[in-house]
Amino acid sequence: MKVTAAITAVQGYVPEYVLTNAELEKMVETSDEWITSRTGIKERRILQGEGKATSDMAVEAIKMLLKKRGITADELDMIIVATVTPDMLFPSTACVIADKIGATKCWGYDVSAACSGFLFSLQNASAYIQSGIAKKILVVGADKMSSIVDYKDRNTCVIFGDGCGCVLLEPNEEGLGIQDALLHIDGSGRSHLNQKAGGSLNPASLETIEHREHYIYQEGKTVFKFAVKNMAEVAAEIMERNHLTSDDVNWLVPHQANLRIIEATRERIGLPEDRVMINIQKYGNTTNGTIPLCLWEWESQLKKGDNLILAAFGGGFTWGALYLKWAY
Ligand code: UT7
Repeated sequence: MKVTAAITAVQGYVPEYVLTNAELEKMVETSDEWITSRTGIKERRILQGEGKATSDMAVEAIKMLLKKRGITADELDMIIVATVTPDMLFPSTACVIADKIGATKCWGYDVSAACSGFLFSLQNASAYIQSGIAKKILVVGADKMSSIVDYKDRNTCVIFGDGCGCVLLEPNEEGLGIQDALLHIDGSGRSHLNQKAGGSLNPASLETIEHREHYIYQEGKTVFKFAVKNMAEVAAEIMERNHLTSDDVNWLVPHQANLRIIEATRERIGLPEDRVMINIQKYGNTTNGTIPLCLWEWESQLKKGDNLILAAFGGGFTWGALYLKWAY
């Protein structure tokens, strides 16, 4: 029997502090009405506290996941962390997390693919499990977006939030788990959504700080157009390739960037509203956290054998869709 990689546990974590639209109205020229109608977001979570980083949210989620699955950190073979807000540029957040949870027998790394990072990481993990290289892989999607958001820029500060989700992937011999993935990158879109400074192109300097280049830069309208088109298309394409009609799909699990992008994707693949996971109103765009946070919140409604289509679009540009059969 062919071995596939199946999700055998999922857990999420969001920080306690709730940043509401009303509070943002006091910080920038915006309104609850604008934010709600243009994005669908009502509130987002913010990680507060000196010395708190992306790894701290991940550790909270992972500890609960290990407990739920009844395994110890030492049983993990690999940790793959999808993030655009690593604790540090190096070492990887995977290293930091492994140390904090006491995973002494594993290896791993970070994946940088902006909002598509969680999907790219699942595909990575799937290949390792299918090849027999690893048997227990933790895939984490985590971002402390508040660390790179300019709270003076109304174009971006209303969108993003902090959060994290993680899944455990293990071999499955019943044909469940990850079935197929269609992933893309197109770097010609890099000027529309990026963080200009802090890398080798523009190392940190007084000038980069004065020009506010360590924050997210986004040309919203341009990104929106690409996101709507590509996320919807790739979701439709993976369904066609696997001979799935809208009746066969139990859940669409879309990256939560904008309610209007989610709606366009749902319409393109012809799914009714009650089969789409949406929690953007509570958490905003947590970048790599959105998809695993949805899986976590809907876990109790998922049934063994359910067909899920995961879809994402993000900076790079990066985008893709993944088809999986829920395994428990
Ligand atoms: O997750 C990674 C990928 N990212 C995305 O998928 C995000 C894609 N883009 C979007 O979701 C939307 O483009 C935004 C939510 C970012 C913006 O919505 P939009 O409908 O595309 O608005 P816009 O940027 O075209 O701006 C329309 C107007 C502008 O005013 P003028 O020029 O028409 O006078 C903006 O200055 O809305 C203004 N505006 C705001 N007004 C109130 C922009 N941000 C705000 C704000 N509050 N927060």
